[in-house]
Amino acid sequence: MDGNGRWAKQRGLPRMEGHRRGVETVRTITFAARDLGVKRLTLYAFSVENWKRPQDEVGALMGLLEFYLKKELDTFVRDKVRFETIGQTQDMPASIRNLLEITVEKTKHFTEYTLVLALNYGSRTEMVDATKAYTQAVISGKEDLAQLSWPILSKYLYTQSSADPDLVIRTSGETRISNFLLMQAAYAEFIFTPVLWPDFTKANLAEAITEYTKRERRFGLTSEQLSPKAQ
Ligand code: IPE
Ligand code: MG
Repeated sequence: MDGNGRWAKQRGLPRMEGHRRGVETVRTITFAARDLGVKRLTLYAFSVENWKRPQDEVGALMGLLEFYLKKELDTFVRDKVRFETIGQTQDMPASIRNLLEITVEKTKHFTEYTLVLALNYGSRTEMVDATKAYTQAVISGKEDLAQLSWPILSKYLYTQSSADPDLVIRTSGETRISNFLLMQAAYAEFIFTPVLWPDFTKANLAEAITEYTKRERRFGLTSEQLSPKAQ
């Protein structure tokens, strides 16, 4: 979700106004994705690097997150949205941690659709945490190093056993991955759109999904291997 600051700047508004509008988009896209058949939507809301932004912006973002979580809990319960997080949420402010725990707990029995917020998330930090947890498991005898494989190691990532993303969309015209789900997106399709996050609509999402369906995902194989009859 990129481009909140530029959206505000274009209108001569404070950056925070862009973030506020960005939250509106989060709300719209959460339900738009479900309507369009998405099973799991992960939103990169706050990275491990974002703490280095000016303190007033970080504080305001935390305030906005708290407001959002308080407001959405009832909606998630009513509309059966399972809520999860990835990232080092233990280092988020206590009030937010508390809300996250409640929201996860109250929605954990829903199975149809999952919204994941990446908070204090970074792929490299995730890899380090996974390595530590895995090594600890080897030391305690729970894992056997000789048996290590990707399916085993990936269970130690924050995403645990959830499916890899099929499609990654970045808004605002930037063509970077910025430490987002690097391992999990190994075979994902990428779409980079110039639309700024506050302007991103259900139609934009539908368009991205349509483009995704036209792509041939080969996973290292040849086109002929995938559809022999088409030759
Ligand atoms: C994304 O918008 C929101 C967060 C990272 C929290 P930005 O704040 O990065 O917006 P730009 O890149 O300055 O336009
Ligand atoms: Mg940005």
